[in-house]
Amino acid sequence: MPASSASFWLASTEVSSFDKLTTDLTVDVAVVGGGITGISLAYLLAKEGKQVALLDAGRLLNGTTGNTTAKITAQHDLIYDELIHHIGEEKARLYYEANDEAIAFIRNTVLENKISCDFAEENAYIYTTAEANIAMIDKEWKAYEKLGIPGLRADRIPLPVDAKASIVMPNQARFHPLAYLKHLIKHFINNGGQIFEETTAMSINPGSPLTTVVTRDGTQVKCRDVVSCSHFPFYDVSGFYFARLYAERAYVLGVKLNGDYPGGMYLSADSPPRSIRSVSFNGEDLLLVGGERHKTGQGICTMKHYERLETFVRDTFGSCEIPYRWSAQDLTTLDKVPYIGHVVKNEPHAYIATGYRKWGMTSSTAAALLLKDMILGIDNRYEDLYTPSRFYADPSLKTFLVENADVAKHLINGKLEWVTREPEDVRPDEGAVVRVNGKRAGAYREADGTLYVVDTTCTHMGCEVQWNAGERTWDCPCHGSRFSFSGEVIEGPAKKSLKQIEY
Ligand SMILES: Cc1cc2nc3c(=O)[nH]c(=O)nc-3n(C[C@H](O)[C@H](O)[C@H](O)COP(=O)(O)OP(=O)(O)OC[C@H]3O[C@@H](n4cnc5c(N)ncnc54)[C@H](O)[C@@H]3O)c2cc1C
Ligand code: FES
Repeated sequence: MPASSASFWLASTEVSSFDKLTTDLTVDVAVVGGGITGISLAYLLAKEGKQVALLDAGRLLNGTTGNTTAKITAQHDLIYDELIHHIGEEKARLYYEANDEAIAFIRNTVLENKISCDFAEENAYIYTTAEANIAMIDKEWKAYEKLGIPGLRADRIPLPVDAKASIVMPNQARFHPLAYLKHLIKHFINNGGQIFEETTAMSINPGSPLTTVVTRDGTQVKCRDVVSCSHFPFYDVSGFYFARLYAERAYVLGVKLNGDYPGGMYLSADSPPRSIRSVSFNGEDLLLVGGERHKTGQGICTMKHYERLETFVRDTFGSCEIPYRWSAQDLTTLDKVPYIGHVVKNEPHAYIATGYRKWGMTSSTAAALLLKDMILGIDNRYEDLYTPSRFYADPSLKTFLVENADVAKHLINGKLEWVTREPEDVRPDEGAVVRVNGKRAGAYREADGTLYVVDTTCTHMGCEVQWNAGERTWDCPCHGSRFSFSGEVIEGPAKKSLKQIEY
């Protein structure tokens, strides 16, 4: 197993760096979050002549977008049968169409601008190797037929696995997401866009005619419209997003095969699911194999997830090298449809886009196209589908109750956990929950012996964080915040670091 946990995308692409915001600024639109959502939206708005500032808390593209597998497809797992039952046939069809248009937008942007980003058309396959799951594939296929989604119901697939049933969605695609987005960044700057890194947006003061975005350092961006593309919304304004979104991590291996790959992008509908696609960039040919999803902070020892993926790869493809491994997380909404639109109904100039359920290449592009129209005052037929104010009793209420009962369970269990280890017991490059002055704490010892001890109570809403050995982070099981081993926030909703404990 490789020691490096950098993604292939980040390792193979140099993205320019930008200064932090040091003086107050007035623009038309503040876009917060420099992942695929923020960059795509900023690019589109600047093209329309808007003055846009793009802010990122860290470096652009180092969030989930830098750690994706980047299949560009409207085949979002088994979803269409479920959508028909929960949100109705018309909206289920719109969901497909929004994602299909997003694929077309990416394809056209790549072709028109001759972007060299390994863009290639591929068939997407969802398949099962279990007799018991054939009925699920058949139900999904009926939904394709009902909605008029182009595809093919087949048994076999080109991969060397014992598939029992599959659905092929043709003319989907793959790309190198960072090579593509670098190009959009260049155009954004050429169109007058401004980018600020290491600039964390903390809150907004809604106002008329201008809203103010306040950063951690106290600098302010005044703007007519503000959009949270920060993955977890950086402001909530009583939208209760922490209770309406949950975070799931997943793991990826970058594999060099010894044999040939038959082509195609695959996702198994089995448990545990496996995702496969190939990439060919700068003379490097790899297979990306993903899976092992679990709620953030609630998995087994993280290294075990990589080991299980490796076993799957060797059983399926034989001997191989594995030069890359990484993991990341994405957010899911109560009804599995992203939240894109006004953060709450009565804030006409504050927007969010999030909750892509690991299908953010097309969903973020659909979000950028929709939000661009909303900001420019143009009607868009997808507004109702994605509005964050929607509520479907089934399935939203059920998911809300299950997810929030899970949060309550982790809140209580973390407090009751009996901890026996002391910081002295922690070995080099080990992290563990320990007891300090009779209280639960977290300790990590660097290879050179330096010890970091932090209060494990999450600064968001007080759950107890868990050690993630694969990434050397403290992860919160309640709403998915993540902290470095020394306590700094890596991913929200938490905004404050874990308290360091002198030891
Ligand atoms: C393992 C894995 C595999 C995936 N594979 C696929 C796939 O094959 N196909 C697909 O379509 N989707 C896939 N996805 C999903 C997709 O990668 C994500 O949905 C998408 O990248 C999310 O993009 P984003 O711009 O919303 O968020 P991010 O890329 O996370 O960007 C958010 C940015 O906001 C910044 N930020 C956060 N808080 C603040 C703040 N307060 N102030 C300023 N900046 C802030 C962060 O620093 C970050 O740069 C996958 C996801 C995972 C986890
Ligand atoms: S992320 Fe909400 S309590 Fe930790």
